[in-house]
Amino acid sequence: MENTEIIYGLKPADVPFAALDEVIKEAYGQEEKETGVYSRRLHMSADDLEAELGPEAVFFTAMRDGEVVGTLTLRFQTLTCWYHQGPAARLSLIAVRPACQGQHIASTLMRAAHQYASDHGCQVMILGTQMNNKRAQRVYEHLGYLKVRPYRFDGLNVEYALWTNGCPIGAFKRKTQYALRRVRLWTKK
Ligand SMILES: CC(C)(COP(=O)(O)OP(=O)(O)OC[C@H]1O[C@@H](n2cnc3c(N)ncnc32)[C@H](O)[C@@H]1OP(=O)(O)O)[C@@H](O)C(=O)NCCC(=O)NCCS
Repeated sequence: MENTEIIYGLKPADVPFAALDEVIKEAYGQEEKETGVYSRRLHMSADDLEAELGPEAVFFTAMRDGEVVGTLTLRFQTLTCWYHQGPAARLSLIAVRPACQGQHIASTLMRAAHQYASDHGCQVMILGTQMNNKRAQRVYEHLGYLKVRPYRFDGLNVEYALWTNGCPIGAFKRKTQYALRRVRLWTKK
């Protein structure tokens, strides 16, 4: 992490989208090559990304020697699902240049996003990843994220949640709900 500067809470107008797009393409490209699973992000242009994220998105970038080496995006939304009703901060586009991975850049960006959400009165973080993206899952689970929901979106995905002030749901309920939804997903045509 030496020489790595984390830039907090950028609004779309201040984001270097072309640089971000480059990091995302490198990172997701490596993932697609390794897992063979199609990544929609990889095939979006910088303009598509900007349009999809909308004006409310908040960006976090990790810079090293003046270059973007890591990125993530945060959006606030209101959830009404079995594990939470109320405001939550959704993280997406978590990507670190392959040459810089394993140096705690993603975890540092994510901790900065947790702090930002908490400063804005939101203690529930959520994110989704493909079921076979074991590398990303390891990072999220190291940070304390819990599996809450399987879902389909360009293949099988898993939603994770983190309660930064302590999870209100018991492990038994969480595991049972996750397992039930997984069975339903497998049996649904
Ligand atoms: C997933 C990703 C963002 C992780 O970024 P990162 O900066 O390498 O993650 P970190 O260094 O913060 O990892 C945290 C932990 O995971 C471990 N880890 C990360 N990459 C690893 C690897 N390739 N092999 C083994 N362990 C790894 C780290 O050692 C660290 O463990 P520790 O806390 O015990 O030391 C990055 O691999 C990436 O960009 N992947 C491609 C895009 C992608 O899949 N994004 C997520 C989509 S939801």
